[in-house]
Amino acid sequence: METLQSTMHPAGTDAAAIAQLSWVLFVGGGLVFAVVMGLTAIASLGAERRRRFLSERKFIVIAGAILPAIVLTALLVYGLTLTGTRIAIAEADALRIEVTGEQWWWRVRYPDSGGDIITANEIRIPADRPIELTLLSADVIHSFWVPNLAGKIDMIPGTVNRLTLRATQPGEYRGQCAEFCGGPHALMAFHVVALEPAAFDIWLAAQREPAASPETALQQEGADLFVASGCGGCHSIRGTAAIGTIGPDLTHVGGRLTIAAATLPADAASFARWIRDNQYIKPNNLMPPFGTLSDDELAALGAYLEHLK
Ligand code: CUA
Repeated sequence: METLQSTMHPAGTDAAAIAQLSWVLFVGGGLVFAVVMGLTAIASLGAERRRRFLSERKFIVIAGAILPAIVLTALLVYGLTLTGTRIAIAEADALRIEVTGEQWWWRVRYPDSGGDIITANEIRIPADRPIELTLLSADVIHSFWVPNLAGKIDMIPGTVNRLTLRATQPGEYRGQCAEFCGGPHALMAFHVVALEPAAFDIWLAAQREPAASPETALQQEGADLFVASGCGGCHSIRGTAAIGTIGPDLTHVGGRLTIAAATLPADAASFARWIRDNQYIKPNNLMPPFGTLSDDELAALGAYLEHLK
């Protein structure tokens, strides 16, 4: 079940600190506003004696300069202390994951996992373990934001940014590119899926395996069409002749929650729709539409890709 994408529902230690800071600022700001409005009312409508008191020099210096200086200094120290510890100094047992923002999807690598594990648009992590994300860009500035888990940080071409996070409980958390990056920027989303550590290890081991071989005649037809249509020029399916690296790696695409950066579910019908109508579904994305394929051929491709769990 996907958790509501919201900074107000923290499910990670970093997001919890940010939510706490937000509440302190919101409640504190509300209190200051109420007091100032009360004093304004007294200054305009109050008794002569109270109005005189409010206009005294001593009151103006204390309430107008000294008190705000104390309150703002305290908030600054509190905010820096709370968020300073969030600046990425990865813990020793952190799991490193590399995420590259591309127009308009996310390339995800697990560099320490004994095998070339590359996936897309979905970051699986073990719950309750520190994660160190290396954030890169392949083209323009993107911004990585999973509001339930951590703060937002830009992905800038030529720069390596880091973000640490820790999901306190298993769940599905939606993330969104938060910097306008052209074209279908709004459809550049992803999911972070936090799993129980044992389930994560099983998933990671399965990701190391090459793609599943076709098991039915329809899937075989889809696999043949994938090669014949030139899909392997842009996409990789490990264990097959498809070794393209321009688009998302599809080795285990059928096991993901979504395709096209959280635009469609990863099922056979959606694969077929995407291959034919992707410029309608996600205008200006970099994949050409394959309008020449028949419905039967699209169904075969869909069956094959769905099978790649
Ligand atoms: Cu990538 Cu907006």
